[in-house]
Amino acid sequence: MRVAVIGMGYVGLVTACGFASFGHNVLGIEKDPEKLIKLRQKVCPFYEEGLNELLNAMISKGFINFSSDLNSVNNFDIIFITVGTPSLPNGQVDLSQIYEVLHKLVNILKKPTTLVMKSTVPPGTGLKIRRRFLRNADTRIAYLSNPEFLREGNALKDWYHPDRIIIGGEDNKAIEQIKELYKDINAPKIVMGITSAEMVKYASNAFLATKISFINEIANLCEIVGADINEVAQAVGMDKRIGAEFLKAGLGYGGSCFPKDTKGLEYISLFNGHNFNLLKAVIEVNFKQRLKAVKKLISALQGVSGKCIAILGLAFKPGTDDVRESPALDIISLLLNEGAIIKAYDPLAIENALNILGNKVIFSSNPYECVKDSHAVILVTEWTEFLKLNWSTIKLQMRSPFVIFDGRNVLNKSQLISLGFQYYGIGR
Ligand code: UGA
Repeated sequence: MRVAVIGMGYVGLVTACGFASFGHNVLGIEKDPEKLIKLRQKVCPFYEEGLNELLNAMISKGFINFSSDLNSVNNFDIIFITVGTPSLPNGQVDLSQIYEVLHKLVNILKKPTTLVMKSTVPPGTGLKIRRRFLRNADTRIAYLSNPEFLREGNALKDWYHPDRIIIGGEDNKAIEQIKELYKDINAPKIVMGITSAEMVKYASNAFLATKISFINEIANLCEIVGADINEVAQAVGMDKRIGAEFLKAGLGYGGSCFPKDTKGLEYISLFNGHNFNLLKAVIEVNFKQRLKAVKKLISALQGVSGKCIAILGLAFKPGTDDVRESPALDIISLLLNEGAIIKAYDPLAIENALNILGNKVIFSSNPYECVKDSHAVILVTEWTEFLKLNWSTIKLQMRSPFVIFDGRNVLNKSQLISLGFQYYGIGR
């Protein structure tokens, strides 16, 4: 099939390369000239494990091409929209990039086409799009919703082995076409109404965020009553009804999805007259996790003004160079406000962090350089590299009072205490 994918961000590029790898003829549309040049030179504009290799292979085989010209999608059988839907300051979802594409598309498309929304849009958006844009188009455009569930750092695995493929729509021909497009993926293909499909995406992310905030609150309580959250979470997760995943206590969730989608769903609820108190608490607990960590440090160091603090990890999670809504950025900003001197290291995300933080932070080229002369070290992102550090060497390089804040509960607490560190974790 001829498949066009509009928006070569992280979801769009994975989708485009994924369909190309099934032998479809794919065109990726990207309006940013710098990104387009990179893509044509077979360079992935962001880090995602395995994607650069796949991109290379697909371009070499001639299965994928890139263009900035939206007009070139006219003869395609299926068009995916994968442009960004960021948050506005009030939490509302900014659909302007989607509307911009649709305004142009309805004038470009001259032959019947299936239009598939993969960008995350508030429930009800698809029906509005059909009324507002597609009804008056020159040709018949079948509209489907097909939300994505790709995790950064795991995107290709999630693409080839999803738990389910959600197809929202009523047009049977278009639904069969999409099922055929995904035929090489062995996963249940669930068909439902457009608004339900849109809601599945928000409900899934909100539920996972709720699990994280829930376990963080249990961790906070563990700390007060003297339990260990790692032991508690492991045993709780063994109940199949609960499940072991997303029960890792820490500094809270970050990234381009959970913060945006939880706030988006809260806004949608309010807009529709529904008070989603549980979700509000999830969002508040998440921010509190960062605050609590900073407060603990302030008390352990008896004030952080003029003290040197080493931040290990800037990416919002391991396996990515993405720092959007990263706990590290919140913590750094809170500590800078208190007058701390911040050194930071990350195996992949320094360039992205530098673009945001500039010279407010001293960036290091390895973890040992980062911890040198620091009064405290905070492990923010659980990169494997940090699990193998030699803490005896680190102790010799640090300054008293040798505080280690293990923001992901991944370090050996008793070993660190016996080396003479003051250890702080989350709920242990
Ligand atoms: C998330 C969802 O997992 C994907 O299914 C979804 O497609 C994607 O958002 C999206 O909407 O596009 P992602 O943001 O890449 O994927 O990352 P996750 O692996 O879900 O982690 C999100 C955050 O939660 C990270 O900051 C991570 O450190 C944190 N987390 C995760 C915890 O604090 N504890 C856990 O137990 C799990």
